[in-house]
Amino acid sequence: MSTEKKTSILFVCLGNICRSPMAEAIMQKLVEGAGMKEQFYIDSAGLIRYHEGEGADPRMKQHAFRHGYRLTHISRPVRPADFDEFDLIIGMDDNNYDKLRRLAPTLEAEAKVKRMTDFCTQHVIDHVPDPYYGGAQGFENVIEILEDACAGLLTSLQ
Ligand code: 4NP
Repeated sequence: MSTEKKTSILFVCLGNICRSPMAEAIMQKLVEGAGMKEQFYIDSAGLIRYHEGEGADPRMKQHAFRHGYRLTHISRPVRPADFDEFDLIIGMDDNNYDKLRRLAPTLEAEAKVKRMTDFCTQHVIDHVPDPYYGGAQGFENVIEILEDACAGLLTSLQ
Protein backbone atom coordinates (compact mmCIF):
# COMPACT_ATOMS: atom_id res chain seq x y z
CA MET A 1 0.00 0.00 0.00
CA SER A 2 1.26 3.46 -0.88
CA THR A 3 1.63 5.87 2.03
CA GLU A 4 2.01 8.84 -0.30
CA LYS A 5 -0.38 11.66 0.63
CA LYS A 6 -3.14 12.33 -1.87
CA THR A 7 -3.46 15.73 -3.51
CA SER A 8 -6.86 17.02 -2.45
CA ILE A 9 -8.78 19.48 -4.58
CA LEU A 10 -12.02 21.27 -3.71
CA PHE A 11 -13.90 22.97 -6.54
CA VAL A 12 -16.22 25.76 -5.40
CA CYS A 13 -19.05 27.73 -7.04
CA LEU A 14 -22.11 29.51 -5.69
CA GLY A 15 -24.77 26.80 -5.47
CA ASN A 16 -22.68 23.61 -5.94
CA ILE A 17 -25.22 22.29 -8.43
CA CYS A 18 -23.77 23.40 -11.81
CA ARG A 19 -20.15 24.47 -12.26
CA SER A 20 -18.29 22.91 -9.33
CA PRO A 21 -19.86 19.41 -9.50
CA MET A 22 -19.13 19.52 -13.24
CA ALA A 23 -15.49 20.42 -12.53
CA GLU A 24 -15.32 17.60 -9.97
CA ALA A 25 -16.59 15.02 -12.50
CA ILE A 26 -14.27 16.22 -15.28
CA MET A 27 -11.21 16.20 -12.99
CA GLN A 28 -12.12 12.77 -11.60
CA LYS A 29 -12.41 11.34 -15.12
CA LEU A 30 -9.10 12.93 -16.15
CA VAL A 31 -7.14 11.50 -13.22
CA GLU A 32 -8.75 8.09 -13.75
CA GLY A 33 -7.82 8.20 -17.44
CA ALA A 34 -4.26 9.09 -16.48
CA GLY A 35 -4.13 6.10 -14.08
CA MET A 36 -3.74 8.53 -11.15
CA LYS A 37 -7.00 7.95 -9.29
CA GLU A 38 -5.29 6.88 -6.08
CA GLN A 39 -3.19 10.04 -5.98
CA PHE A 40 -6.12 12.45 -5.79
CA TYR A 41 -9.09 13.26 -3.58
CA ILE A 42 -11.55 15.48 -5.44
CA ASP A 43 -14.70 17.13 -4.05
CA SER A 44 -16.84 20.22 -4.59
CA ALA A 45 -18.85 22.65 -2.46
CA GLY A 46 -20.92 25.82 -2.65
CA LEU A 47 -20.80 29.24 -1.03
CA ILE A 48 -24.55 29.23 -0.35
CA ARG A 49 -26.37 26.39 1.40
CA TYR A 50 -29.61 26.94 -0.49
CA HIS A 51 -29.26 23.70 -2.47
CA GLU A 52 -27.71 21.61 0.31
CA GLY A 53 -28.66 17.93 -0.04
CA GLU A 54 -29.73 18.26 -3.70
CA GLY A 55 -28.14 16.54 -6.67
CA ALA A 56 -26.76 18.60 -9.55
CA ASP A 57 -29.10 20.76 -11.64
CA PRO A 58 -30.93 18.47 -14.12
CA ARG A 59 -29.81 20.68 -17.04
CA MET A 60 -26.15 20.38 -16.01
CA LYS A 61 -26.61 16.61 -15.55
CA GLN A 62 -28.09 16.25 -19.02
CA HIS A 63 -25.34 18.19 -20.76
CA ALA A 64 -22.73 16.31 -18.72
CA PHE A 65 -24.23 12.96 -19.70
CA ARG A 66 -24.03 13.84 -23.41
CA HIS A 67 -20.33 14.53 -22.93
CA GLY A 68 -19.75 11.24 -21.12
CA TYR A 69 -19.87 12.41 -17.50
CA ARG A 70 -22.16 11.30 -14.70
CA LEU A 71 -22.83 13.85 -11.97
CA THR A 72 -23.47 12.11 -8.65
CA HIS A 73 -22.38 14.84 -6.23
CA ILE A 74 -24.80 16.05 -3.57
CA SER A 75 -24.60 19.80 -2.89
CA ARG A 76 -22.92 20.86 0.33
CA PRO A 77 -21.68 24.20 1.64
CA VAL A 78 -18.00 25.08 2.12
CA ARG A 79 -17.00 24.21 5.71
CA PRO A 80 -14.26 25.80 7.85
CA ALA A 81 -12.46 22.42 7.98
CA ASP A 82 -12.11 22.47 4.17
CA PHE A 83 -9.38 25.09 4.52
CA ASP A 84 -7.38 22.64 6.61
CA GLU A 85 -8.17 19.47 4.72
CA PHE A 86 -7.74 20.49 1.08
CA ASP A 87 -4.51 21.37 -0.72
CA LEU A 88 -6.23 23.45 -3.38
CA ILE A 89 -9.55 25.31 -3.19
CA ILE A 90 -10.57 26.51 -6.63
CA GLY A 91 -13.29 29.10 -7.26
CA MET A 92 -15.14 29.46 -10.57
CA ASP A 93 -15.35 33.26 -10.69
CA ASP A 94 -14.12 36.39 -8.92
CA ASN A 95 -17.00 36.40 -6.45
CA ASN A 96 -16.20 32.82 -5.42
CA TYR A 97 -12.49 33.60 -5.25
CA ASP A 98 -12.91 36.76 -3.15
CA LYS A 99 -15.37 35.10 -0.77
CA LEU A 100 -13.13 32.05 -0.31
CA ARG A 101 -10.13 34.25 0.45
CA ARG A 102 -12.15 36.16 3.03
CA LEU A 103 -13.32 32.91 4.64
CA ALA A 104 -9.79 31.47 4.82
CA PRO A 105 -8.76 31.39 8.49
CA THR A 106 -5.00 31.75 7.94
CA LEU A 107 -2.59 33.12 5.33
CA GLU A 108 -1.58 29.55 4.53
CA ALA A 109 -5.24 28.67 3.86
CA GLU A 110 -5.70 31.83 1.77
CA ALA A 111 -2.80 30.74 -0.45
CA LYS A 112 -4.69 27.53 -1.30
CA VAL A 113 -7.44 29.52 -3.01
CA LYS A 114 -7.10 29.72 -6.81
CA ARG A 115 -9.16 30.78 -9.84
CA MET A 116 -10.28 27.96 -12.12
CA THR A 117 -9.66 29.87 -15.33
CA ASP A 118 -6.01 30.51 -14.39
CA PHE A 119 -5.43 26.86 -15.40
CA CYS A 120 -6.92 27.27 -18.91
CA THR A 121 -4.46 26.90 -21.75
CA GLN A 122 -6.92 27.10 -24.69
CA HIS A 123 -9.30 29.81 -23.52
CA VAL A 124 -8.44 33.41 -22.68
CA ILE A 125 -11.11 33.97 -20.04
CA ASP A 126 -11.17 35.14 -16.43
CA HIS A 127 -14.18 33.29 -15.02
CA VAL A 128 -16.47 30.31 -15.62
CA PRO A 129 -19.81 32.03 -16.40
CA ASP A 130 -22.72 31.06 -14.15
CA PRO A 131 -25.15 29.08 -16.37
CA TYR A 132 -28.03 28.96 -13.87
CA TYR A 133 -30.26 31.67 -15.33
CA GLY A 134 -29.29 31.11 -18.96
CA GLY A 135 -29.93 28.62 -21.75
CA ALA A 136 -28.38 25.46 -23.14
CA GLN A 137 -25.35 27.18 -24.63
CA GLY A 138 -24.28 28.31 -21.18
CA PHE A 139 -24.07 24.72 -19.94
CA GLU A 140 -22.09 23.64 -23.01
CA ASN A 141 -19.78 26.58 -22.46
CA VAL A 142 -19.18 25.53 -18.83
CA ILE A 143 -18.12 22.03 -19.95
CA GLU A 144 -15.81 23.36 -22.63
CA ILE A 145 -14.06 25.79 -20.28
CA LEU A 146 -13.81 23.27 -17.46
CA GLU A 147 -12.32 20.57 -19.71
CA ASP A 148 -9.60 23.03 -20.65
CA ALA A 149 -9.01 24.20 -17.07
CA CYS A 150 -8.95 20.67 -15.59
CA ALA A 151 -6.42 19.51 -18.20
CA GLY A 152 -4.25 22.52 -17.35
CA LEU A 153 -4.66 21.86 -13.63
CA LEU A 154 -3.56 18.23 -13.99
CA THR A 155 -0.55 19.27 -16.05
CA SER A 156 0.37 21.85 -13.39
CA LEU A 157 0.31 19.12 -10.72
CA GLN A 158 2.44 16.58 -12.63
P1 4NP B 1 -23.55 27.15 -9.66
O1 4NP B 1 -24.90 27.79 -10.28
O2 4NP B 1 -22.99 28.19 -8.71
O3 4NP B 1 -22.69 26.92 -10.84
O4 4NP B 1 -23.99 25.87 -8.95
C1 4NP B 1 -25.90 28.35 -9.50
C2 4NP B 1 -26.77 27.52 -8.81
C3 4NP B 1 -27.79 28.07 -8.06
C4 4NP B 1 -27.92 29.45 -7.97
C5 4NP B 1 -27.05 30.27 -8.66
C6 4NP B 1 -26.02 29.72 -9.42
N1 4NP B 1 -28.99 30.02 -7.21
O5 4NP B 1 -29.12 31.25 -7.22
O6 4NP B 1 -29.75 29.27 -6.55
